[in-house]
Amino acid sequence: MSHEQKLRGFEREIESWKIRIKDANDRKTYDEVFDRQTLLAIYKLFSDGFFDILDFPISTGKEGNVFRGITRAGDYVAVKIYRLSTSTFRDLGKYILGDPRFKKAAKRFPQIIFSWAQKEYSNLERFSKAGVRVPEPIAVHRNVLVMEYIGNEYMPAPKMKDVILEDPNATAEYLLESVKNAYSRGHIVHGDMSEYNVLMTEDAPVIIDLAQAVVLDHWMSQELLERDITNLARFFRKAGVMIDEKEQLGRIRGGETATS
Ligand SMILES: Nc1ncnc2c1ncn2[C@@H]1O[C@H](COP(=O)(O)OP(=O)(O)OP(=O)(O)O)[C@@H](O)[C@H]1O
Ligand SMILES: [Mg+2]
Repeated sequence: MSHEQKLRGFEREIESWKIRIKDANDRKTYDEVFDRQTLLAIYKLFSDGFFDILDFPISTGKEGNVFRGITRAGDYVAVKIYRLSTSTFRDLGKYILGDPRFKKAAKRFPQIIFSWAQKEYSNLERFSKAGVRVPEPIAVHRNVLVMEYIGNEYMPAPKMKDVILEDPNATAEYLLESVKNAYSRGHIVHGDMSEYNVLMTEDAPVIIDLAQAVVLDHWMSQELLERDITNLARFFRKAGVMIDEKEQLGRIRGGETATS
């Protein structure tokens, strides 16, 4: 299977699952089961040598946590752990714990999250191959993703929303060029571009949080592209940079090439 087909496969799976798990109980049993699974996944990556230490949490969010890890060689990595028990999925316990008919769905449940992690890994690869600066993907196992750490010895790189931009024009241009390269070379749209998902380093902005990115033949790709541009325009307007959204969309779409 080609990379493209694999990505489409993940996307389809995730979409079908989203519908299935809408109505959702039994929190405790649920959390216990999946937290153990998470520990096992972390242990696997640890024993495979991807990190020796989980250093400190960089971020604790609704959907997961990001830790800084340290390898045996002393290098830093970022370890993103997708939570297996968010409230979104809570009520699925009802299916899992009582009804034998849903055994299959129950078994499939953690796969949804695994697919998100896997998809983020693939998307990171794809952006990177298209020449867009994102964290380099290193490993993924179940709901745990290991990638390049963006930051220094003392702290992770700040989000764009938390810094005063030295040259907002240049940053805007750089990010629009990144969106264009992802689109025309990588045939992919980020889908959640905003000042929350860009980390600022001394060299260049680094785009993060790619699980939701979609390939161009996804039915939502154009809508998401428009939203990405609108989000960038809204943010940069406040920094005094006017982005002509129509013009940018034309430029990005015009640069599209036919091959994958
Ligand atoms: N590779 C990385 N290097 C350094 N810090 C990172 C890296 N990846 C993510 N982070 C930090 O972790 C935070 C959350 O990561 P990300 O945006 O990928 O996850 P999320 O699921 O969107 O979580 P949230 O809802 O908290 O944004 C980021 O805002 C950033 O501060
Ligand atoms: Mg984010």
